[in-house]
Amino acid sequence: MKNESYFIPNTTTTPDIQTYKTQWEAPSNIALVKYWGKKDNQIPANASVSFTLKNCKTITEVAFSKKENNLHFSFDFYFENHPKESFKPKLNDFLTRIEPYCPYLKAYHLKISSENTFPHSSGIASSASGMAALAFNIVSFEKVLYPEITEEYFYEKVSFLARLGSGSACRSIKGKVVVWGEHKSVPQSSHLFGVEVSEIHPVFTTLQDTILLVDVGEKQVSSTVGHNLMNNHPFANQRFIQAEENLTTLLEYLKEGNINGFINLVESEALTLHSMMMTSNPYFILMKPNTVAIIQKLWNFRTQTQIPVCFTLDAGANVHILYPENEKDTVQHFIQTELATHCHNHQFINDCIGNGGAEIG
Ligand code: PMV
Repeated sequence: MKNESYFIPNTTTTPDIQTYKTQWEAPSNIALVKYWGKKDNQIPANASVSFTLKNCKTITEVAFSKKENNLHFSFDFYFENHPKESFKPKLNDFLTRIEPYCPYLKAYHLKISSENTFPHSSGIASSASGMAALAFNIVSFEKVLYPEITEEYFYEKVSFLARLGSGSACRSIKGKVVVWGEHKSVPQSSHLFGVEVSEIHPVFTTLQDTILLVDVGEKQVSSTVGHNLMNNHPFANQRFIQAEENLTTLLEYLKEGNINGFINLVESEALTLHSMMMTSNPYFILMKPNTVAIIQKLWNFRTQTQIPVCFTLDAGANVHILYPENEKDTVQHFIQTELATHCHNHQFINDCIGNGGAEIG
């Protein structure tokens, strides 16, 4: 079993590279079995599984330049070509947390420049794609310093570092479907990084996801606060047991191509996530009236047409509509004519399953 020390480079020499530039893009992901509740050091309370998106992504460039001293890292952050001071505390926490695993960073100044392909006021969390893209850049630089690192180590370390920035970010690295958290059904699975699941039936390998932008404002309750409210939550233990079982079942459905089983389980997971929020103390609701209106219209549409389309939710009011590629025209017409009216400024984003991060240039 790999532990944290596996990710500490076993050399202390920093090769004499003065300047270096990297650029990577990484996508967002949407969980099917949800991670909600965590232990110290970003260890999940239960294993989760997500599929990787393709179009919603962050593109990040990092320019590394060697400093006079090597006491502590330093950095600047630019978002869409402008300095963004408000993001710096989060990045500072992240870099501090990963420093023991990336001691070479102490000798460099990092100029980090990022942009998202989705509108930043869309309510889509950019922390998963953002942390994943940054982690790719850092491990890519590590590979320049220490070329002997293997491809397997590279991807595991990217996922490991991304997790320390934002838990779900560790599922945005490699592969269409990714499990994070130790689980008996996935032999290589780990609490420390995400692993790709490759036994996926063709009906799911081209899955479509239209993200309906219901509420574009800042969330009233952050996911950090929400995770913490699972400590002392009256239903937490039962929920963690249920998530473990749901993961086993969902992996079977993904392998067999059982779309009706998939719909039932994925929708139940979404509503269970929000039930946990409503039964926390203090309790809170992130769904909006339009979230519920969309769900009800979707259920009517499914009953009438028998098209296998379903929804999932993340920790917010937006709705992800999931459907097979061969139903794309009908479902997208339904979204345009019936559901867009419930979205902020009629906004939605058509996305689909993707493969993870990639180097640019
Ligand atoms: O990665 P975080 O801490 O933002 O938590 C994500 C939590 C959910 O999106 C609600 C579920 C998940 O598994 O992604």
